[in-house]
Order: sequence, then structure tokens, then C-alpha cells
Amino acid sequence: MSKVLFANLGVQPIPNNFLSKEQLGDPEPFYPLSASFDTETFLVQLDYPLPREVIFNAGYPYFSSQSTTFLAHAQTFANEMIHRFNPKLVVEIGSNDGYLLQFFKRMGVRVFGYEPCLSVAAYARNKGITTIVDFFGSTKQIREPKADLMIANNVLAHVPDIDDFVDGFRVALAPEGVVTFEFPHLLNLIQQNQFDTIYHEHYSYLSLVAVTRVLDRHDLRVFDVEQLPVHGGSLRVFACLKDSKRATRYKNITVVIGLEHDAGLYKPAVYEGFAKRVCQTKRRLLDALIDIKAYGDTIVGYGAPAKGNTLLNYCGIGKDFLEFVVDTTPAKQGMYLPGSRLEIRRPLELDKFKPDYVLILPWNFKDEIMGKLDHIRNWGGKFIVPIPTPEIIK
Ligand code: TYD
Repeated sequence: MSKVLFANLGVQPIPNNFLSKEQLGDPEPFYPLSASFDTETFLVQLDYPLPREVIFNAGYPYFSSQSTTFLAHAQTFANEMIHRFNPKLVVEIGSNDGYLLQFFKRMGVRVFGYEPCLSVAAYARNKGITTIVDFFGSTKQIREPKADLMIANNVLAHVPDIDDFVDGFRVALAPEGVVTFEFPHLLNLIQQNQFDTIYHEHYSYLSLVAVTRVLDRHDLRVFDVEQLPVHGGSLRVFACLKDSKRATRYKNITVVIGLEHDAGLYKPAVYEGFAKRVCQTKRRLLDALIDIKAYGDTIVGYGAPAKGNTLLNYCGIGKDFLEFVVDTTPAKQGMYLPGSRLEIRRPLELDKFKPDYVLILPWNFKDEIMGKLDHIRNWGGKFIVPIPTPEIIK
């Protein structure tokens, strides 16, 4: 086994550990953050994984329901799954605030969720969604009947022990059951330079080939795959037990494998090139921000996503560049960003302050956000989109 460095983002705090005002005088733990490609398994994984309890705890502040784009995606997904598989029992792993299961429930399907973070699980329970507050894995049996549809969207990349996690599906699935995994596609991460999505919460950066190999080790077979625009470009993989009678849609699988192959994902060179591009992007973004500040203009950050914290901390961007950031998530408002310690305010404050530039940190929602903030153009405001290449949009 040999490893090739994919990105070295220095030392960073946990990007979703927002600080309260009272904590501003306290020290903050910083952990090394780098990822490498394993030439044998084709997995890209963190070099220094942290115990999951350090990250996913009672205070975890990520609420999937915050984005209308994402909610619409969830609703479409629920409709498609009901139409295609007609499930009687749907089990979602990483069910968050019930953003997805609510749509199945409304259509009369029996649902329950697994969600280790009480902070978000409580919201799901309020929506009447039965939620087990725990991590999922091979020893976390689901009581009979076995599930005919299991969903693990945006969670496969979030588990430190991917083998144990995947084995849980082998155990819990009904003989002809289906499991869907959605995860950001490594291909897009590389092609779109999305290096700020590398952080401690994301233990793995996945290609179809790497996932197929992991599933194969646990008697699961990929029978279909779709490419999706969410989270900067994701894959939705459909798997079943190896002995299932379900037909494999080889055409769809071959297309994705072909793209990965053509992009060089199965060879080390692309990973080495990426590591260099990350450093280059940092220098370019800093160049642009230094110019803006030298001119005496002001910048406010929009959004407080985890990826934004990775970017800010990697680049060393703090109060020296940004006045504050705004975010629509009530639980984040009034808190401070880890590392940079920038204050998170309500979006209304952006309109009051009228900055010359708005740095869009959740670039995956940039169209939704630029649409919402179109009025900043009335005072001459401009947008900065940092990824894939720092760009100023008037
Ligand atoms: P997201 O990309 O979902 O998060 P992460 O990098 O943490 O996985 O980031 C979304 C963040 O942006 C979340 O804190 C909510 C915020 N947000 C707004 O404030 N306004 C918006 O219009 C949207 C779409 C998101």
C-alpha cells in the first residue's frame, strides 16, 4: 500500500464547532488536516482521522432544512424512490432534522431515522419522525421487519470506519431491499477544485470505483448510479445484496467509470497535481482580497458553512479581511466561526452594512444566494466566489 498526498490544509479547528461569545477568551483545539490517495483501495481519506464523537455530538449545528435547493432535492428524491421501489419501510441513516423522511411520511410510508446528533434529531422527532439517536454500524441491528429501502445520503463520507458502516446495510436490508448512498463525487471535487470540502467531518472522498470495492467486501452489489448536481456534484449509488435478483444497469455504471478513468482518478498524478492547485488557489484568493482591502473597500462573508471555515482558516482570513459573516441558520447567529472567530450575524445586517463585496462561502448554493442578494448591486456591491478559481462577479 502506498499513499499519495492529495491536500495539506495545515492545522484546523473542527469546522462546525462554532463558539459562543463567552468562549471567545478560551483556547481552541487545532488538528492536522490532510488527505491522501491510497493506491491500493483507491480511497482518498484523512491522514489523521478524529474519533467521531469529537465531531458528531449533541451540539452539532448542521440543519439540512436550511436550504430550499436541498429541500426541493429531497422532495424529488422521495417521489422518485416511491415511484421506483414502492417501499413499505424506509430507514434513513443520518436523518438529520427529518428534512427527507418528512416527505415519505406525508405519502403514508412508514419511516424511521438514525441520527447521532441530538441537536438535530430533536427537530425530526418534533416532526413526528421516529429517530434513534445513535451511530449506525454492523452491530446496530434494526428490529424486524428488515428495511426494503435504506437511505444513506451524505453520510458515507462522514464515517471513520467505512467497512463497519457498510456492513450494517448487509445486516439490515431485506433480501430484495435497496440502499442508496449519495456522496460528493471525488471527480467533481478534483475538477472543480473543491478543496474546502476536505475537513475533519469528511473522512473519505469517494469515487464510484472505491465505493464499489468497499460494498463488494460486504456482499453488496452496485446495480445503478446517477450523477447529481447537489453539493457541487454528487453520485447516487443504488446497491442491493449480492444475491438479489435486481438487474444491474451497466450502461449508467460504465459512463461514470469512464469519466473517472478519463480524469485520471486511478493514477497518482492527478492527486499530486491537485495538491499544488490548492496552494495556488490560496495565493490567488489572498491576492484578490489584499487588493480590495488596499483600496479601502469592505467585505462581508455570506454563509457559515463548514467548508467556509476550512477555506478561511487555511488561507488565514479573519477580521483583517472580513467585517463579519451572515447566515440564515438561527442556531449559528450570534456565534463565532471556529479559528477565524468572525461573528455570525443575521442576513439583515448585511443590508444595513452595505459592504462593497460579499464573499460567498457556500459556493454550492451560489446561484440561490446571488438571486437572493441581487439587491446588493443597487449600492454597487459585488460578489466574490472563491471556488473553483477566485472570481469577482458584478
Ligand atoms: P452547506 O454548503 O450546506 O454546508 P457545509 O459546507 O457545512 O456542508 O452550507 C450552507 C450554509 O449556508 C448553512 O449554514 C446555511 C447557509 N445558507 C444561508 O445562510 N443562506 C442561504 O441562502 C443558503 C442556501 C445557505
